[in-house]
Amino acid sequence: EFHKTPNQYAWSFDGPFGRFDQQQLQRGFKVYDEVCAACHSLKFVAFRDLEQLGYDEGQVKAFAASKQVPDVDPVTQEPTTRPGLPTDYFPHVAYAGAGNPPDLSLMAKARHDGTNYIASLLTGYTEMPAEVTEEFPDFAIPATGYYNPYFANLALAMPAPLADGQVTYDDGTEATVEQMSKDVAAFLTWTAEPTLDKRKQTGWPVLIFLLFATVLAYLSKQQIWAAVK
Ligand code: HEM
Repeated sequence: EFHKTPNQYAWSFDGPFGRFDQQQLQRGFKVYDEVCAACHSLKFVAFRDLEQLGYDEGQVKAFAASKQVPDVDPVTQEPTTRPGLPTDYFPHVAYAGAGNPPDLSLMAKARHDGTNYIASLLTGYTEMPAEVTEEFPDFAIPATGYYNPYFANLALAMPAPLADGQVTYDDGTEATVEQMSKDVAAFLTWTAEPTLDKRKQTGWPVLIFLLFATVLAYLSKQQIWAAVK
């Protein structure tokens, strides 16, 4: 009973009319790039996908070129690295610490209520409450673990990655832990479903068309059977 279900935050992309907030996605991308990318990869995202967040071709090219991606030397055929191109995917992240940071591309879909879960997990680090020890005297946080009530077994190998003011947002938004957590959760919702906006926009014309087709079918039926008493 010490495990908590995620907080229910309000998201711009909630509901049938929901849309991603591009400013928020850009802020979340900044948090990923400056903080999470030290440990977590994003292997299903290509640099050119960032154009969907409102960056222009030049910005995407420059960002890609600032990352080293794996390649094979054309002469020696030895594995090597080179600056990224927009068509490259975010590179593998070498990690030497304890635990195994999972790829984050699809995390928002892999976990139940994933967007709220990611935001809650990142804001959820606390001291272990004394009641936990009272009720479960044998429960101990592993040496490489950190207490977090949103993680299913209450302790995980990821240290709290965020502290107030950790990034400097370009749009002047104050970078509190909660703000950064929500922004990166929104960004990871986009990486997991970049077509969310399109999916929601497609639904309404389809419904309106079906309604129209139903009315038309009804009127045709009335006319066709008009002579039959
Ligand atoms: C696990 C997100 C930064 C190391 C995770 C998980 C998420 C996540 C969603 C999976 C939890 C689960 O399995 O349900 C993030 C985000 C970050 C961030 C959004 C940036 C804000 C970092 C950093 C490190 C790190 C900087 C390394 C210092 C790990 C490790 C795990 C993990 C080792 C595996 C934990 C376990 O299974 O016990 N992270 N992370 N993360 N992360 Fe991070």
